[in-house]
Amino acid sequence: MAALSNRLSRWTLPMFACALVNFLVAQGWMLAGMTWPAQPVSTAGTLAAVHLLVIGWLLFLMLGALFQFVPVITSRPLVSQSLALATLIALESGLAGMVGGFFGIGAGYPGLAMALPAGGAAVFLGVLIACWNIGVPLLRSRPLSLPGRMVLTGLAFLVLTVTLGLSFALALAAPALAPYLAPLLAGVGDHALAGLGGWFTLTAMAVSYKLLPMFMLAPEERGIAGNSVHVLATAGFALAVGAGLARVWSAAEPLRVAESSGYATVAIAVALYLWDIVRIYRTRKRPVIEAHNRAAIAAFAFLGLGSALAIGLRLTAHTSAGAPVIVFLTVFGWLGGLGLTQLYKIVPFLTWLSRYGSSLGRGGAVPRVQDLVLERRGYPWFALYFLGVLLGAVAGLLGSSRGFRACLVLVTLATFGLVIEYWRAWRGHYAQLRHHEPARSPLLPTQKG
Ligand code: HEM
Repeated sequence: MAALSNRLSRWTLPMFACALVNFLVAQGWMLAGMTWPAQPVSTAGTLAAVHLLVIGWLLFLMLGALFQFVPVITSRPLVSQSLALATLIALESGLAGMVGGFFGIGAGYPGLAMALPAGGAAVFLGVLIACWNIGVPLLRSRPLSLPGRMVLTGLAFLVLTVTLGLSFALALAAPALAPYLAPLLAGVGDHALAGLGGWFTLTAMAVSYKLLPMFMLAPEERGIAGNSVHVLATAGFALAVGAGLARVWSAAEPLRVAESSGYATVAIAVALYLWDIVRIYRTRKRPVIEAHNRAAIAAFAFLGLGSALAIGLRLTAHTSAGAPVIVFLTVFGWLGGLGLTQLYKIVPFLTWLSRYGSSLGRGGAVPRVQDLVLERRGYPWFALYFLGVLLGAVAGLLGSSRGFRACLVLVTLATFGLVIEYWRAWRGHYAQLRHHEPARSPLLPTQKG
Protein backbone atom coordinates (compact mmCIF):
# COMPACT_ATOMS: atom_id res chain seq x y z
CA MET A 1 0.00 0.00 0.00
CA ALA A 2 2.98 2.32 0.49
CA ALA A 3 3.40 2.14 -3.28
CA LEU A 4 -0.09 3.57 -3.66
CA SER A 5 0.68 6.75 -1.77
CA ASN A 6 3.98 7.06 -3.67
CA ARG A 7 2.05 7.14 -6.92
CA LEU A 8 0.24 10.29 -5.93
CA SER A 9 0.87 13.34 -8.05
CA ARG A 10 2.33 15.98 -5.75
CA TRP A 11 0.84 18.98 -7.58
CA THR A 12 -2.62 17.73 -8.41
CA LEU A 13 -4.42 19.03 -5.31
CA PRO A 14 -2.68 22.47 -5.45
CA MET A 15 -3.73 22.69 -9.13
CA PHE A 16 -7.33 21.89 -8.18
CA ALA A 17 -7.19 24.61 -5.51
CA CYS A 18 -5.93 27.19 -8.07
CA ALA A 19 -8.62 26.03 -10.51
CA LEU A 20 -11.44 26.56 -8.01
CA VAL A 21 -10.16 30.01 -7.00
CA ASN A 22 -9.95 31.05 -10.67
CA PHE A 23 -13.46 29.70 -11.27
CA LEU A 24 -14.92 31.73 -8.41
CA VAL A 25 -13.06 34.91 -9.50
CA ALA A 26 -14.48 34.54 -13.04
CA GLN A 27 -17.98 34.06 -11.62
CA GLY A 28 -17.48 37.20 -9.49
CA TRP A 29 -16.67 39.21 -12.64
CA MET A 30 -19.73 37.82 -14.41
CA LEU A 31 -21.92 38.71 -11.43
CA ALA A 32 -20.44 42.21 -11.37
CA GLY A 33 -21.60 42.70 -14.98
CA MET A 34 -18.07 42.96 -16.43
CA THR A 35 -18.76 40.30 -19.10
CA TRP A 36 -21.32 39.00 -21.58
CA PRO A 37 -24.34 39.30 -21.52
CA ALA A 38 -24.04 42.66 -19.70
CA GLN A 39 -21.15 43.55 -22.09
CA PRO A 40 -20.62 42.68 -25.77
CA VAL A 41 -18.81 39.41 -26.51
CA SER A 42 -15.46 40.73 -27.70
CA THR A 43 -14.87 43.28 -24.94
CA ALA A 44 -11.86 43.05 -22.62
CA GLY A 45 -13.97 41.93 -19.65
CA THR A 46 -15.57 39.02 -21.55
CA LEU A 47 -12.30 37.87 -23.13
CA ALA A 48 -10.48 38.05 -19.79
CA ALA A 49 -13.26 36.08 -18.05
CA VAL A 50 -13.43 33.50 -20.87
CA HIS A 51 -9.70 32.78 -20.47
CA LEU A 52 -9.93 32.79 -16.69
CA LEU A 53 -12.54 30.06 -17.15
CA VAL A 54 -10.91 28.00 -19.90
CA ILE A 55 -7.29 28.29 -18.73
CA GLY A 56 -7.65 29.21 -15.03
CA TRP A 57 -10.46 26.77 -14.24
CA LEU A 58 -10.70 24.05 -16.90
CA LEU A 59 -7.05 23.73 -17.99
CA PHE A 60 -5.80 23.63 -14.39
CA LEU A 61 -8.45 21.08 -13.52
CA MET A 62 -7.76 18.88 -16.53
CA LEU A 63 -3.96 18.95 -16.29
CA GLY A 64 -4.11 18.41 -12.51
CA ALA A 65 -6.29 15.36 -13.14
CA LEU A 66 -4.05 14.08 -15.96
CA PHE A 67 -0.92 14.34 -13.80
CA GLN A 68 -2.60 11.79 -11.53
CA PHE A 69 -4.50 9.83 -14.16
CA VAL A 70 -1.84 9.21 -16.85
CA PRO A 71 0.55 7.27 -14.53
CA VAL A 72 -2.45 5.11 -13.52
CA ILE A 73 -3.48 4.21 -17.08
CA THR A 74 0.09 3.73 -18.35
CA SER A 75 1.68 2.22 -15.19
CA ARG A 76 4.55 4.64 -15.85
CA PRO A 77 5.49 7.74 -13.82
CA LEU A 78 5.38 11.28 -15.15
CA VAL A 79 8.69 12.52 -16.55
CA SER A 80 9.03 14.66 -13.42
CA GLN A 81 6.96 16.05 -10.55
CA SER A 82 9.00 19.27 -10.73
CA LEU A 83 7.86 19.76 -14.32
CA ALA A 84 4.26 19.63 -13.05
CA LEU A 85 5.13 22.52 -10.72
CA ALA A 86 6.77 24.37 -13.64
CA THR A 87 3.49 24.01 -15.58
CA LEU A 88 1.51 25.34 -12.64
CA ILE A 89 3.75 28.43 -12.30
CA ALA A 90 3.91 29.12 -16.07
CA LEU A 91 0.13 28.82 -16.48
CA GLU A 92 -0.84 30.96 -13.49
CA SER A 93 1.69 33.73 -14.26
CA GLY A 94 0.88 33.56 -17.98
CA LEU A 95 -2.83 33.81 -17.24
CA ALA A 96 -2.26 36.89 -15.07
CA GLY A 97 -0.35 38.46 -17.98
CA MET A 98 -3.11 37.59 -20.46
CA VAL A 99 -5.81 39.07 -18.25
CA GLY A 100 -3.74 42.26 -17.79
CA GLY A 101 -3.13 42.35 -21.55
CA PHE A 102 -6.84 42.03 -22.43
CA PHE A 103 -7.66 44.94 -20.11
CA GLY A 104 -4.64 46.86 -21.44
CA ILE A 105 -5.88 46.55 -25.02
CA GLY A 106 -9.44 47.38 -23.92
CA ALA A 107 -8.23 50.54 -22.15
CA GLY A 108 -5.88 51.52 -24.98
CA TYR A 109 -2.58 51.20 -23.05
CA PRO A 110 -0.04 49.91 -25.60
CA GLY A 111 2.52 49.11 -22.83
CA LEU A 112 0.09 46.85 -20.99
CA ALA A 113 -1.16 45.34 -24.26
CA MET A 114 2.17 43.53 -24.70
CA ALA A 115 1.31 41.56 -21.55
CA LEU A 116 -1.16 39.62 -23.73
CA PRO A 117 1.42 37.92 -25.99
CA ALA A 118 3.92 37.72 -23.10
CA GLY A 119 1.33 35.96 -20.92
CA GLY A 120 0.23 33.84 -23.89
CA ALA A 121 3.86 32.77 -24.42
CA ALA A 122 4.12 31.68 -20.77
CA VAL A 123 0.87 29.69 -21.13
CA PHE A 124 2.25 28.17 -24.35
CA LEU A 125 5.43 27.15 -22.50
CA GLY A 126 3.44 25.68 -19.59
CA VAL A 127 1.37 23.65 -22.07
CA LEU A 128 4.47 22.34 -23.89
CA ILE A 129 6.01 21.26 -20.58
CA ALA A 130 2.76 19.49 -19.62
CA CYS A 131 2.62 17.76 -23.03
CA TRP A 132 6.15 16.45 -22.48
CA ASN A 133 5.40 15.35 -18.93
CA ILE A 134 2.21 13.52 -19.88
CA GLY A 135 3.07 12.60 -23.48
CA VAL A 136 6.24 10.61 -22.71
CA PRO A 137 4.56 7.98 -20.47
CA LEU A 138 1.65 7.80 -22.91
CA LEU A 139 3.90 7.29 -25.96
CA ARG A 140 6.01 4.67 -24.15
CA SER A 141 3.00 2.65 -23.03
CA ARG A 142 2.22 -0.45 -25.14
CA PRO A 143 -0.55 -1.22 -25.88
CA LEU A 144 -2.04 2.21 -25.19
CA SER A 145 -5.61 2.06 -23.85
CA LEU A 146 -8.49 4.00 -25.45
CA PRO A 147 -8.43 6.80 -22.81
CA GLY A 148 -4.65 7.16 -23.37
CA ARG A 149 -5.08 7.46 -27.15
CA MET A 150 -7.85 10.02 -26.67
CA VAL A 151 -5.68 12.11 -24.32
CA LEU A 152 -2.82 12.10 -26.88
CA THR A 153 -5.20 13.35 -29.59
CA GLY A 154 -6.52 15.97 -27.20
CA LEU A 155 -2.99 17.24 -26.51
CA ALA A 156 -2.46 17.86 -30.25
CA PHE A 157 -5.61 20.04 -30.31
CA LEU A 158 -4.42 21.84 -27.16
CA VAL A 159 -1.14 22.79 -28.85
CA LEU A 160 -3.08 24.01 -31.90
CA THR A 161 -5.39 26.08 -29.66
CA VAL A 162 -2.64 27.87 -27.77
CA THR A 163 -0.65 28.43 -30.99
CA LEU A 164 -3.68 30.15 -32.54
CA GLY A 165 -4.28 32.12 -29.32
CA LEU A 166 -0.69 33.33 -29.30
CA SER A 167 -0.95 34.39 -32.96
CA PHE A 168 -4.14 36.37 -32.15
CA ALA A 169 -2.37 38.01 -29.23
CA LEU A 170 0.56 39.07 -31.45
CA ALA A 171 -1.87 40.32 -34.11
CA LEU A 172 -3.64 42.50 -31.52
CA ALA A 173 -0.64 43.76 -29.54
CA ALA A 174 2.32 43.91 -31.97
CA PRO A 175 1.59 46.40 -34.79
CA ALA A 176 4.63 45.17 -36.79
CA LEU A 177 3.14 41.68 -37.05
CA ALA A 178 -0.49 42.73 -37.50
CA PRO A 179 -0.41 42.80 -41.35
CA TYR A 180 0.62 39.13 -41.41
CA LEU A 181 -1.41 37.77 -38.51
CA ALA A 182 -4.56 39.92 -38.37
CA PRO A 183 -6.49 37.83 -41.00
CA LEU A 184 -6.21 34.87 -38.62
CA LEU A 185 -8.50 36.70 -36.16
CA ALA A 186 -11.41 35.68 -38.40
CA GLY A 187 -10.70 32.15 -37.19
CA VAL A 188 -11.54 32.90 -33.55
CA GLY A 189 -14.42 30.39 -33.69
CA ASP A 190 -11.98 27.68 -34.80
CA HIS A 191 -9.66 28.57 -31.89
CA ALA A 192 -12.63 28.11 -29.54
CA LEU A 193 -13.72 24.85 -31.23
CA ALA A 194 -10.21 23.37 -31.15
CA GLY A 195 -9.94 24.23 -27.43
CA LEU A 196 -13.43 23.43 -26.12
CA GLY A 197 -14.02 20.54 -28.52
CA GLY A 198 -10.81 18.92 -29.76
CA TRP A 199 -8.96 19.34 -26.49
CA PHE A 200 -11.39 19.59 -23.54
CA THR A 201 -14.28 17.49 -24.82
CA LEU A 202 -12.11 14.70 -26.18
CA THR A 203 -10.04 14.58 -22.98
CA ALA A 204 -13.13 14.75 -20.74
CA MET A 205 -14.52 11.79 -22.70
CA ALA A 206 -11.22 9.95 -22.15
CA VAL A 207 -11.24 10.59 -18.40
CA SER A 208 -14.91 9.61 -18.09
CA TYR A 209 -14.21 6.35 -19.96
CA LYS A 210 -11.78 5.48 -17.16
CA LEU A 211 -13.43 6.96 -14.06
CA LEU A 212 -17.05 5.94 -14.62
CA PRO A 213 -16.42 2.18 -15.08
CA MET A 214 -13.84 2.31 -12.25
CA PHE A 215 -16.22 3.74 -9.64
CA MET A 216 -19.40 2.02 -10.84
CA LEU A 217 -17.73 -1.35 -11.52
CA ALA A 218 -18.78 -1.45 -15.19
CA PRO A 219 -16.76 -3.01 -18.06
CA GLU A 220 -13.85 -0.70 -18.99
CA GLU A 221 -13.44 -2.18 -22.47
CA ARG A 222 -15.62 0.01 -24.74
CA GLY A 223 -15.08 -2.03 -27.91
CA ILE A 224 -16.08 -0.68 -31.28
CA ALA A 225 -18.30 2.05 -29.79
CA GLY A 226 -15.41 3.65 -27.87
CA ASN A 227 -13.02 3.43 -30.82
CA SER A 228 -15.66 4.94 -33.11
CA VAL A 229 -16.23 7.85 -30.70
CA HIS A 230 -12.49 8.55 -30.75
CA VAL A 231 -12.06 8.30 -34.53
CA LEU A 232 -15.24 10.22 -35.41
CA ALA A 233 -14.64 12.99 -32.86
CA THR A 234 -11.01 13.39 -34.00
CA ALA A 235 -11.94 13.45 -37.70
CA GLY A 236 -14.90 15.76 -37.07
CA PHE A 237 -13.02 18.34 -35.03
CA ALA A 238 -10.00 18.22 -37.37
CA LEU A 239 -12.21 18.72 -40.44
CA ALA A 240 -14.32 21.50 -38.90
CA VAL A 241 -11.30 23.41 -37.51
CA GLY A 242 -9.06 22.80 -40.57
CA ALA A 243 -11.69 23.80 -43.12
CA GLY A 244 -12.83 26.69 -40.93
CA LEU A 245 -9.28 28.08 -40.81
CA ALA A 246 -8.78 27.56 -44.56
CA ARG A 247 -11.96 29.59 -45.14
CA VAL A 248 -10.16 32.59 -43.62
CA TRP A 249 -8.23 32.77 -46.91
CA SER A 250 -10.57 31.14 -49.43
CA ALA A 251 -14.33 31.24 -50.02
CA ALA A 252 -14.26 27.98 -52.03
CA GLU A 253 -17.51 26.01 -51.72
CA PRO A 254 -15.81 22.64 -50.95
CA LEU A 255 -14.35 24.19 -47.79
CA ARG A 256 -17.83 25.17 -46.59
CA VAL A 257 -19.04 21.62 -47.28
CA ALA A 258 -16.00 20.15 -45.47
CA GLU A 259 -16.61 22.38 -42.45
CA SER A 260 -20.30 21.37 -42.25
CA SER A 261 -19.35 17.68 -42.65
CA GLY A 262 -16.91 18.12 -39.76
CA TYR A 263 -19.70 19.48 -37.52
CA ALA A 264 -22.03 16.64 -38.57
CA THR A 265 -19.33 14.06 -37.77
CA VAL A 266 -18.79 15.61 -34.33
CA ALA A 267 -22.57 15.44 -33.70
CA ILE A 268 -22.56 11.70 -34.54
CA ALA A 269 -19.56 11.14 -32.23
CA VAL A 270 -21.31 12.96 -29.36
CA ALA A 271 -24.52 10.95 -29.86
CA LEU A 272 -22.55 7.69 -29.90
CA TYR A 273 -20.61 8.71 -26.79
CA LEU A 274 -23.78 9.57 -24.85
CA TRP A 275 -25.31 6.23 -25.85
CA ASP A 276 -22.15 4.48 -24.63
CA ILE A 277 -22.30 6.40 -21.32
CA VAL A 278 -25.89 5.17 -20.84
CA ARG A 279 -24.53 1.63 -21.43
CA ILE A 280 -21.91 2.16 -18.69
CA TYR A 281 -24.60 3.21 -16.20
CA ARG A 282 -26.83 0.28 -17.23
CA THR A 283 -24.11 -2.40 -17.05
CA ARG A 284 -22.63 -1.28 -13.72
CA LYS A 285 -22.23 -3.91 -11.00
CA ARG A 286 -22.55 -1.43 -8.13
CA PRO A 287 -26.31 -1.15 -7.50
CA VAL A 288 -26.26 2.27 -5.78
CA ILE A 289 -24.88 5.11 -7.89
CA GLU A 290 -22.76 7.47 -5.76
CA ALA A 291 -23.72 11.16 -5.59
CA HIS A 292 -20.95 12.34 -7.93
CA ASN A 293 -22.02 10.01 -10.72
CA ARG A 294 -25.73 10.71 -10.17
CA ALA A 295 -24.94 14.42 -10.53
CA ALA A 296 -22.69 13.76 -13.56
CA ILE A 297 -25.81 12.69 -15.50
CA ALA A 298 -26.71 16.39 -15.67
CA ALA A 299 -23.28 17.20 -17.17
CA PHE A 300 -23.83 14.57 -19.89
CA ALA A 301 -27.30 16.01 -20.52
CA PHE A 302 -25.70 19.45 -20.99
CA LEU A 303 -23.30 18.00 -23.58
CA GLY A 304 -26.34 16.73 -25.49
CA LEU A 305 -28.25 19.99 -25.02
CA GLY A 306 -25.32 22.19 -26.09
CA SER A 307 -24.70 20.05 -29.18
CA ALA A 308 -28.41 20.05 -30.11
CA LEU A 309 -28.56 23.82 -29.72
CA ALA A 310 -25.41 24.26 -31.83
CA ILE A 311 -26.93 22.11 -34.61
CA GLY A 312 -30.26 23.97 -34.41
CA LEU A 313 -28.59 27.38 -34.59
CA ARG A 314 -26.33 26.30 -37.46
CA LEU A 315 -29.26 24.95 -39.48
CA THR A 316 -31.19 28.18 -38.99
CA ALA A 317 -28.07 30.33 -39.63
CA HIS A 318 -28.20 31.89 -36.14
CA THR A 319 -24.83 30.53 -34.99
CA SER A 320 -23.16 33.81 -34.09
CA ALA A 321 -26.14 35.06 -32.04
CA GLY A 322 -26.25 31.84 -30.02
CA ALA A 323 -22.48 31.20 -29.80
CA PRO A 324 -22.04 32.73 -26.31
CA VAL A 325 -24.83 30.52 -24.93
CA ILE A 326 -23.23 27.43 -26.47
CA VAL A 327 -19.87 28.41 -24.92
CA PHE A 328 -21.66 28.97 -21.57
CA LEU A 329 -23.40 25.57 -21.73
CA THR A 330 -20.12 23.86 -22.67
CA VAL A 331 -17.94 25.59 -20.07
CA PHE A 332 -20.39 25.60 -17.14
CA GLY A 333 -22.78 22.74 -17.94
CA TRP A 334 -20.73 20.03 -19.65
CA LEU A 335 -17.02 20.52 -18.82
CA GLY A 336 -17.37 22.49 -15.57
CA GLY A 337 -20.26 20.32 -14.40
CA LEU A 338 -18.37 17.09 -15.07
CA GLY A 339 -15.30 18.56 -13.36
CA LEU A 340 -17.18 19.59 -10.20
CA THR A 341 -18.92 16.22 -9.93
CA GLN A 342 -15.75 14.17 -10.42
CA LEU A 343 -13.83 16.35 -7.93
CA TYR A 344 -16.36 15.18 -5.35
CA LYS A 345 -14.82 11.71 -5.74
CA ILE A 346 -11.23 12.52 -6.74
CA VAL A 347 -10.52 14.83 -3.75
CA PRO A 348 -11.62 12.23 -1.12
CA PHE A 349 -9.84 9.49 -3.07
CA LEU A 350 -6.50 11.37 -3.15
CA THR A 351 -6.97 12.45 0.47
CA TRP A 352 -7.58 8.86 1.48
CA LEU A 353 -4.52 7.60 -0.42
CA SER A 354 -2.20 10.24 0.98
CA ARG A 355 -3.44 9.90 4.54
CA TYR A 356 -4.35 6.26 4.93
CA GLY A 357 -2.78 4.52 1.91
CA SER A 358 0.51 3.84 3.74
CA SER A 359 -1.08 3.00 7.13
CA LEU A 360 -3.51 0.37 5.83
CA GLY A 361 -2.83 -3.01 7.41
CA ARG A 362 -0.83 -1.49 10.29
CA GLY A 363 -3.74 -1.50 12.74
CA GLY A 364 -6.04 1.34 13.77
CA ALA A 365 -9.37 2.40 12.29
CA VAL A 366 -9.18 3.37 8.61
CA PRO A 367 -12.29 5.07 7.19
CA ARG A 368 -13.59 4.21 3.73
CA VAL A 369 -13.22 6.78 0.92
CA GLN A 370 -16.98 7.46 1.03
CA ASP A 371 -16.74 8.24 4.77
CA LEU A 372 -14.83 11.40 3.81
CA VAL A 373 -17.97 12.97 2.27
CA LEU A 374 -21.57 13.33 3.37
CA GLU A 375 -23.63 12.89 0.22
CA ARG A 376 -26.82 14.44 1.58
CA ARG A 377 -24.82 17.66 2.14
CA GLY A 378 -23.07 17.62 -1.24
CA TYR A 379 -25.87 16.52 -3.55
CA PRO A 380 -28.19 19.59 -3.12
CA TRP A 381 -25.32 21.85 -4.24
CA PHE A 382 -25.08 19.92 -7.51
CA ALA A 383 -28.84 20.29 -8.04
CA LEU A 384 -28.60 24.05 -7.41
CA TYR A 385 -25.56 24.39 -9.69
CA PHE A 386 -27.13 22.65 -12.68
CA LEU A 387 -30.47 24.43 -12.16
CA GLY A 388 -28.62 27.76 -12.20
CA VAL A 389 -26.77 26.84 -15.41
CA LEU A 390 -29.98 25.75 -17.16
CA LEU A 391 -31.90 28.89 -16.18
CA GLY A 392 -28.86 31.04 -17.00
CA ALA A 393 -28.71 29.60 -20.51
CA VAL A 394 -32.41 30.34 -21.03
CA ALA A 395 -31.91 33.92 -19.79
CA GLY A 396 -28.86 34.25 -22.08
CA LEU A 397 -30.89 33.06 -25.09
CA LEU A 398 -33.61 35.58 -24.23
CA GLY A 399 -30.94 38.30 -23.98
CA SER A 400 -31.81 39.12 -20.35
CA SER A 401 -28.63 40.28 -18.65
CA ARG A 402 -30.36 40.75 -15.27
CA GLY A 403 -32.02 37.34 -15.45
CA PHE A 404 -28.68 35.77 -16.36
CA ARG A 405 -26.91 37.32 -13.40
CA ALA A 406 -29.71 36.29 -11.06
CA CYS A 407 -29.26 32.67 -12.20
CA LEU A 408 -25.52 32.98 -11.81
CA VAL A 409 -26.06 33.75 -8.12
CA LEU A 410 -27.33 30.16 -7.79
CA VAL A 411 -24.29 28.84 -9.66
CA THR A 412 -21.86 30.80 -7.47
CA LEU A 413 -23.61 29.80 -4.23
CA ALA A 414 -23.48 26.15 -5.31
CA THR A 415 -19.80 26.39 -6.30
CA PHE A 416 -19.00 27.87 -2.87
CA GLY A 417 -20.97 25.11 -1.19
CA LEU A 418 -19.06 22.45 -3.13
CA VAL A 419 -15.70 24.08 -2.39
CA ILE A 420 -16.55 23.81 1.32
CA GLU A 421 -17.44 20.13 0.85
CA TYR A 422 -14.11 19.43 -0.94
CA TRP A 423 -12.30 21.27 1.85
CA ARG A 424 -14.11 19.19 4.46
CA ALA A 425 -13.19 15.98 2.62
CA TRP A 426 -9.55 17.05 2.49
CA ARG A 427 -9.56 17.95 6.19
CA GLY A 428 -11.22 14.65 7.14
CA HIS A 429 -14.15 16.57 8.67
CA TYR A 430 -16.83 13.90 8.17
CA ALA A 431 -14.45 11.02 8.94
CA GLN A 432 -13.67 12.77 12.21
CA LEU A 433 -17.37 13.05 13.05
CA ARG A 434 -17.90 9.40 12.18
CA HIS A 435 -14.76 7.96 13.79
CA HIS A 436 -14.05 10.61 16.45
CA GLU A 437 -10.54 11.17 15.14
CA PRO A 438 -8.94 14.67 15.14
CA ALA A 439 -9.23 16.66 11.88
CA ARG A 440 -5.89 17.17 10.15
CA SER A 441 -4.72 18.01 6.67
CA PRO A 442 -3.04 15.19 4.80
CA LEU A 443 0.62 15.72 4.06
CA LEU A 444 1.33 16.24 0.40
CA PRO A 445 3.02 13.13 -0.98
CA THR A 446 6.76 13.59 -0.91
CA GLN A 447 7.69 11.84 -4.15
CA LYS A 448 10.67 13.67 -5.72
CA GLY A 449 10.65 14.72 -9.39
C1 HEM B 1 -7.31 26.02 -23.70
C2 HEM B 1 -6.96 27.16 -24.21
C3 HEM B 1 -7.89 28.20 -24.79
C4 HEM B 1 -9.23 28.16 -25.04
C5 HEM B 1 -10.21 27.00 -24.80
C6 HEM B 1 -9.59 29.45 -25.59
C7 HEM B 1 -10.90 29.83 -25.92
C8 HEM B 1 -11.24 31.03 -26.48
C9 HEM B 1 -12.60 31.45 -26.78
C10 HEM B 1 -13.86 30.63 -26.47
C11 HEM B 1 -12.53 32.68 -27.36
C12 HEM B 1 -13.73 33.52 -27.83
C13 HEM B 1 -14.10 34.45 -26.71
C14 HEM B 1 -15.11 35.51 -27.11
O1 HEM B 1 -15.45 35.64 -28.29
O2 HEM B 1 -15.55 36.22 -26.18
C15 HEM B 1 -11.15 33.05 -27.42
C16 HEM B 1 -10.67 34.24 -27.95
C17 HEM B 1 -9.35 34.63 -27.90
N1 HEM B 1 -8.29 33.91 -27.38
FE1 HEM B 1 -8.37 32.08 -26.51
N2 HEM B 1 -8.48 30.23 -25.66
C18 HEM B 1 -7.42 29.51 -25.18
C19 HEM B 1 -6.11 29.91 -25.09
C20 HEM B 1 -5.63 31.12 -25.52
C21 HEM B 1 -4.26 31.56 -25.39
C22 HEM B 1 -3.09 30.79 -24.76
C23 HEM B 1 -4.20 32.82 -25.92
C24 HEM B 1 -2.96 33.69 -25.97
C25 HEM B 1 -2.90 34.90 -25.57
C26 HEM B 1 -5.54 33.16 -26.39
C27 HEM B 1 -5.89 34.34 -27.01
C28 HEM B 1 -7.15 34.69 -27.47
C29 HEM B 1 -7.48 35.95 -28.08
C30 HEM B 1 -6.51 37.10 -28.35
C31 HEM B 1 -8.86 35.92 -28.36
C32 HEM B 1 -9.70 37.03 -29.01
C33 HEM B 1 -9.52 37.07 -30.50
C34 HEM B 1 -10.38 38.17 -31.10
O3 HEM B 1 -10.10 39.34 -30.86
O4 HEM B 1 -11.35 37.84 -31.78
N3 HEM B 1 -6.36 32.10 -26.13
N4 HEM B 1 -10.38 32.04 -26.87
